[in-house]
Amino acid sequence: MKVTTICCIGAGYVGGPTMAVIAQKNPQIKVTVVDVNESRIEAWNHEDLDQLPIYEPGLDAVVAEARNRNLFFSTEVDAAIEAADMVFISVNTPTKTYGKGKGMAADLKYIELCARQIAKVSTSDKIIVEKSTLPVKTAQTIKSILHNTGNGINFQILSNPEFLAEGTAVQDLLMPDRVLIGGEQTKEGVEAIQALVDIYLSWVPNENIITTNLWSSELSKLTANAFLAQRVSSINALTELCEVTGADVNEVANAIGKDSRIGPKFLKASVGFGGSCFQKDILNLVYIAKSYGLKEVADYWEQVIIMNDYQKRRFSTKIVKTLYNTISGKKIAFLGWAFKKDTNDTRESAAIYVADQLIEEQATICVYDPKVTAQQMQNDLNYLNSRTEEDNQNQLITEDNPYNACKDAHAIAILTEWDEFKFYDWQKIYDIMQKPAFVFDGRGILNSETLKTIGFQYYAIGR
Ligand code: NAD
Ligand code: UDX
Repeated sequence: MKVTTICCIGAGYVGGPTMAVIAQKNPQIKVTVVDVNESRIEAWNHEDLDQLPIYEPGLDAVVAEARNRNLFFSTEVDAAIEAADMVFISVNTPTKTYGKGKGMAADLKYIELCARQIAKVSTSDKIIVEKSTLPVKTAQTIKSILHNTGNGINFQILSNPEFLAEGTAVQDLLMPDRVLIGGEQTKEGVEAIQALVDIYLSWVPNENIITTNLWSSELSKLTANAFLAQRVSSINALTELCEVTGADVNEVANAIGKDSRIGPKFLKASVGFGGSCFQKDILNLVYIAKSYGLKEVADYWEQVIIMNDYQKRRFSTKIVKTLYNTISGKKIAFLGWAFKKDTNDTRESAAIYVADQLIEEQATICVYDPKVTAQQMQNDLNYLNSRTEEDNQNQLITEDNPYNACKDAHAIAILTEWDEFKFYDWQKIYDIMQKPAFVFDGRGILNSETLKTIGFQYYAIGR
């Protein structure tokens, strides 16, 4: 089967970039990305490419090439589904905030809505592709909805989880370590898998495309994230031990990572991992393990999250203690709010939790981030529900110039590893701060010797 028309439901961090690259590499296929969020679609269609809703290096060029050629962004969900041979589901699957599994299980209501909508509007056979990260066995639910509410139409369901990381999404999509496609091991299933393989073959070498059964594919995505997050929590679990013994976590990570069986990647100690995926996916894995009665398995993976929460708290506690046990009325400058560099995404960013804990001690936080809006920062803090929105507004202020953010501050905390922070005039920053001037480097990116020579009291996590 040759696919000529694709619809992708969900124009977010995954749907947008993924479909832009599929369209760029397959000019013969018409790709329409739909979303219920009108302002998001408007932004995707904005003439000024700086206004795209998602910041990713290199994304503007891909969108510029394919948009309105064979890549379209629209709010007309039904029409796009009906016209498509292949429908990707790329909607959000956040942690449940209510009912059974609250705070752990994945909330699949958006997935179910998509399945129902596809069943309702389809008039021809379709391949449905799970792009969202889902608990293992979700394809069964989707299949049941499609077959019981559809009009006798044939649906094949594939799992094709996305491994891109934000900040490097375009690179990751153009040169993926692997593309994973799971499907039913029947004649129709294998044909559907091949149809999707053919789309990726336009630019991905055959040996990088893995095909599996549905359940292996669904489970591999959740667990791949769990493995990555586990490495960050493992190195972070050594930071405190380094601090009390005089070891340097960077040197330790380097020594550990030189063992080729372990390797150097994902061993950078930090104030804690953030992002929309790690925490939610591990919590979901814990929930799945629990629901199969696998208590030890659940406890094992839960510890990765417990360590991460501890690391964020440890960082804010360190700031309070160092500033003579009181930060009430003091100004603390935050450099960075995004959960990592090169993205405007702030979901689960460590900065939110550290700010919340410092505001609890009555500090004023002044944030500079090159890509995150002031409104987004307020929303993030309000979402925690720790105090009134008015109090948050008074205690969390923002600056669009980093030097203004640091002026008169008692301390600076580095929460995101944006490259530009390394190139600031740190002497100038020292001169405009309160003394003694402290820097708490939650990402270990600054040159400690230079800062100490200037006169800063410098603390880097794990050193
Ligand atoms: P997102 O919140 O940025 O985007 C999801 C979009 O889906 C939103 O714009 C929302 O309006 C839209 N949507 C929800 N229900 C809809 C419906 N019924 N009809 C039309 N549109 C609808 O989320 P994201 O970061 O793109 O993540 C999507 C999925 O991909 C999640 O399952 C996530 O776990 C997974 N994933 C994310 C990343 C990442 O780095 N962000 C990486 C790999 C996988
Ligand atoms: C992650 C996975 O990497 C990706 O494959 C999956 O598809 C989605 O989830 P993402 O959340 O975008 O991607 O970013 P990632 O680069 O994995 O970083 C996650 C968090 O871990 C960030 O807060 C990052 O700063 C932190 N991290 C990462 C560290 O603290 N140390 C490291 O060595 C690596």
